Amino acid sequence: MSQNRCSGIANGTKEWQVGVVSNPFREDLVSRNRPEACTVVIFGATGDLTHRKLIPALYNQAADGELPAGVKIIGFARRDWTDEFFREGLEKLNREVSRTGHDEVVWASLAPNIEYHQSEFQDDDGYRRLAERLDAIDQERGGKGNRLFYVASAPEYFDDILLHLKKAGLSDEREGCWSRVIVEKPFGTTLATAQHLNEVVNGTFEEKDTYRIDHYLGKETAQNIMVLRFANAIFEPMWNKQFIDHVQITCAEHLGMEGGRGGYYDKAGALRDMVQNHLLQLLSLVAMEPPTDLSADGVRDEKVKVIRSLRQWDTPELVAENVTRGQYTSGNINGKEVPGYCEEDRVDPESETEAFVAVRCMIDTWRWSGVPFYVRVGKRLPKKATEISIHFKETPSVLFNAAPGGVPDGNVLVIRIQPDEGISFRINSKLPGTTLRMEPVKMDFHYSSSFGKSSPEAYERLLLDAMAGDATLFARRDEVEEAWRFVDNIENAWHESDNPPPMAEFPAGSWGPKEADEMLKSEGRKWRRL
Ligand code: BG6
Repeated sequence: MSQNRCSGIANGTKEWQVGVVSNPFREDLVSRNRPEACTVVIFGATGDLTHRKLIPALYNQAADGELPAGVKIIGFARRDWTDEFFREGLEKLNREVSRTGHDEVVWASLAPNIEYHQSEFQDDDGYRRLAERLDAIDQERGGKGNRLFYVASAPEYFDDILLHLKKAGLSDEREGCWSRVIVEKPFGTTLATAQHLNEVVNGTFEEKDTYRIDHYLGKETAQNIMVLRFANAIFEPMWNKQFIDHVQITCAEHLGMEGGRGGYYDKAGALRDMVQNHLLQLLSLVAMEPPTDLSADGVRDEKVKVIRSLRQWDTPELVAENVTRGQYTSGNINGKEVPGYCEEDRVDPESETEAFVAVRCMIDTWRWSGVPFYVRVGKRLPKKATEISIHFKETPSVLFNAAPGGVPDGNVLVIRIQPDEGISFRINSKLPGTTLRMEPVKMDFHYSSSFGKSSPEAYERLLLDAMAGDATLFARRDEVEEAWRFVDNIENAWHESDNPPPMAEFPAGSWGPKEADEMLKSEGRKWRRL
């Protein structure tokens, strides 16, 4: 390590900053094609996702010079808006949320390429007009053009949109250019509805042209999991049941049901909203076998094996033992009083929906036999933070058991997905002095200081990948369905059985119900404090 320097004490452990040794992002490791010019049609363009994530992502790509020249954007939605009104709203939000700020010159180059297309989602004529519009854009360009359809409407319209695209011939193969579809989450609400949606998607676009988005896969540190594991020889030999005691994955959010989110969330709950997709995707990246190559299917073949190997919690007893669900009661976050879950806007006061869930996942493979992966996610926890921690086994207790403080704790490798993306490694060190006292110290790598620039937002990377035809960071049909199989069993125990496991409570602003702590305590472990 070239530039180690001590940067003070954090959380009772000494913290060491690790400087960059060499740039690990070698192009040849990434095997990416180049994004190609296309027309992006966004369904549900008046919504929050388009305003807060998609257009700022395209803007930032333009600002970074990554957006291919000639990209056009058409917002398709039901409201009676004009191009100007649409652009003005997008510009206002971009000023507020864009990662790199708002540069008038960049916006002026992007804005004329953004148009609005008004239509109901079930209106044949709206799609016929869309087809004409796309043809006209192609004509201007002097030939056929690539098309990227982004289905970001409310989920009840997904089927309609896909079926109408097919009917209007917009999903047909055209020689020399491509038509692809990105489908937003939620991808179904159960295994059966996900299978149905997959039938509709695959009846419209080929699987190779289908991009099921999971924005956690686009986060910089999530992508770094594979580099960390497979580009550093020291980790892989230890990445198994012999050396790893357990793994924790935490996704904490301090927000509750602001902005009318309660309507959607109260029907979904934490398990469907976050575990089925984001958290099981992170888990599969941590637990997968090394792929034979970095192709989309090479990687996804290995990820799906992990999800398929999850031990199923398919009786109320198993669910009670291995899963804790909870709702927050009123409490205090950052000095502000907040209501309990059942008092939130658009939430049923009698709601049986979980706003917190902790699951003990067991992966029944040779590598992971007996190693629990504890996964927890919740709203109204003390702060927003997502991290994965790999807890290594303790050393044999023969040398240091007589030392003050006893046997040292095991090493912990922490992958911080957000905020402050980075990786830290906890090791035990001797305290300076004449007695043998030990204290944990932290070797810490922060993306922001080591690389000196902010990471692209997940949607930036994912949109470029779809334009480049690289589906590695998108979920494949079988992954989505296997994840639903796991989640459905738990949902059934909660909502269909005569003897449903209880709903725990915790005050907003705390780290979840004590039952979730008990789950680990009963095995001599505890959740890591974030
Ligand atoms: C979404 C969930 O997929 O992810 C939300 O529907 C959640 O409930 C969000 O708040 C979290 O994403 P991020 O990127 O802010 O961690």
